[in-house]
Amino acid sequence: MSGPNTQYDPVEVNALDPDTIEQAVTDALAAISGAGSLEELKAIRPQHQGDKSPLALANREIGALPPTAKAEAGKRVGQARGRVGQAMKQRQTELEAQRDARILREEAVDVTMVPARRPLGRRHPVELMAQRIADVFVGMGWEIADGPEVEAEWFNFDALNFDADHPARQMQDTFYIDPPEDGLVLRTHTSPVQARALLERGVPLYVGCPGKVFRTDELDATHMPAFHQIEGLAVDEGLTMAHLRGTLDRLASELFGAGITTRLRPSYFPFTEPSAEMDLRCFVCDGTNPECRTCSGTGWIEWGGCGMVNRSVLSACGIDPDRYTGYAFGMGIDRALMFRTGVSDMRDMFEGDVRFNAQFGLEV
Ligand code: PHE
Repeated sequence: MSGPNTQYDPVEVNALDPDTIEQAVTDALAAISGAGSLEELKAIRPQHQGDKSPLALANREIGALPPTAKAEAGKRVGQARGRVGQAMKQRQTELEAQRDARILREEAVDVTMVPARRPLGRRHPVELMAQRIADVFVGMGWEIADGPEVEAEWFNFDALNFDADHPARQMQDTFYIDPPEDGLVLRTHTSPVQARALLERGVPLYVGCPGKVFRTDELDATHMPAFHQIEGLAVDEGLTMAHLRGTLDRLASELFGAGITTRLRPSYFPFTEPSAEMDLRCFVCDGTNPECRTCSGTGWIEWGGCGMVNRSVLSACGIDPDRYTGYAFGMGIDRALMFRTGVSDMRDMFEGDVRFNAQFGLEV
């Protein structure tokens, strides 16, 4: 330690006093280690390292010292500033490391985490099947028509040649809209669209009409009070049963595979004459497996009804039955879907379980 310096005014240069300098360092080190964040460290920095900090002021005083005292004072102040600078740097490094660790922790992304996926929606398989059938109609150059689900009794029955006392009209088969005298029903088949299309569009007419129909059937594995049909109607000059057969075979092979044909069995519908039930060749066993579960070993699957449009239907719709003939058919869409998917209980199709759509709602 140098002795008292009598060459200069100690009052003016008391910033260079060793105790003062040591105190400045102690204060600076305490403040530095007390800084809990980079922001705090930044905030205390001017106080201890800035131009007005005690050590900076002391440094400035050195110039006023006599040359003999300069070296020692310079060394003392330099070391003091060095210690403060060092501590500052070290604390800065520590705090940066802490901040980086915190960011890594807080902003960590677990790439192995299973994300909450929102599954893609699927269209209902019945809807898809209806569209698929409608596409075949459009491919044949036919139009698509539709009609209301709440239908006038006249379209649902009268126009289609049902007698006033036909059993199908009875309340145990048909849902009537209250009050029953208003003559509104939930349509029991898509055939009323035949009459609507004839009246609205005239002839020649080639239309397919998919839609929902309703009957007071008890709910079981093969019956639903609401189900789906698709109607086909062709009215033109010179149409015969051969055209009907050709159309049905074309639909069958488009929907169930090349070579799948249909067969007709005599039947009765008030609005067609002659009428037939149509069966589909079993597309699973092609009639070769007596144990086949799809066709119960018969080789055929019941698919719907059909026939030549009854003259009285044409007349009711203002069409000359001596000039025009037509054929019509109606088939179950839900049934077609059951065959195609192997679903044996119809209720599975309408329970609204999205897993059903996920499994069968994709077209391949
Ligand atoms: N509408 C009849 C039914 O629901 C089916 C059918 C349609 C029959 C067209 C002949 C002609 O059963």
